[in-house]
Amino acid sequence: MLHTFTTRQWNDTFSDTEQQQATHQLEHGKILYFPDLAFSLAPNEQPFLSPDVADPHAKNISYYAVQHKLWGVQRLTDQERIQLQSMMDRFSRYATQLVQSLLPHYANHLILARTSFRPVQISDRKTSYRKDDKRLHVDAFPSSPNQGKRILRVFCNINSQGEERVWRVGEPFEEVVNRFVPQIAKPFPGTASVLRLLKITKSYRTLYDHYMLQIHDKMKADNDYQQHAPQQEVHFPSGSTWIVQTDHVSHAAMRGQHVLEQTFYLPVAAMREEACSPLRVLEKKLNQQLV
Ligand code: SIN
Ligand code: FE
Repeated sequence: MLHTFTTRQWNDTFSDTEQQQATHQLEHGKILYFPDLAFSLAPNEQPFLSPDVADPHAKNISYYAVQHKLWGVQRLTDQERIQLQSMMDRFSRYATQLVQSLLPHYANHLILARTSFRPVQISDRKTSYRKDDKRLHVDAFPSSPNQGKRILRVFCNINSQGEERVWRVGEPFEEVVNRFVPQIAKPFPGTASVLRLLKITKSYRTLYDHYMLQIHDKMKADNDYQQHAPQQEVHFPSGSTWIVQTDHVSHAAMRGQHVLEQTFYLPVAAMREEACSPLRVLEKKLNQQLV
């Protein structure tokens, strides 16, 4: 489940063997785990460890480094906004540095996406089942089709009270596919074009995105599955970091507060073993091209 590294610094270097193992483990659905890799906050950043900074209508505070754009915040002065943005920007750069030195094979192909800060206690959050990340799921985004690209995420628990982030990790993707794909109907012809035309989706919702979204929703909707599917609890202490491909690894976040997360997209062609990707697993199962 976890492949552990002793790394203590974001600019650490890795041997060839470590790099190859990291890629292999990640592509085979393991979580790369750095128990001693912490992200330190400056004194003026400490006050951001509060749910009051987050807009209650948004799920997370988001930052997009490419455009220096921050959203999902409330009640911040201009100066605080700049400070929070700079904290998230620093995390984004550190996470990029780590991924590039650990997974150099991906480095030229990674697409930098959103950075998020999650200052709300997960166990207190009330939401619809679809948005409820306390239910086992694989990631798929309704409005941002990723058209087969991998979702690679770097998480860091920055809780200052020593609180762990507790996840459940479920069964391998192939098992998830075998269980849920037979229940999924093909999309109604023309749906993807209408969604695009109405700007409900930011790009074309491919057949791949359709199946991934349906799998995500059906997993979360199935109470029996949530309780009885093979699963394991994993505890990420404060001051730890982990890298995971959340489109592939069934996960649920149960408890914890204050995590930073950086998302990258990766074209499947950049993988060592493309056959491990959700795209190729689904195509094999359905015997059909999906993007
Ligand atoms: C998720 O990706 O489902 C949530 C992970 C987290 O916030 O720990
Ligand atoms: Fe998720």
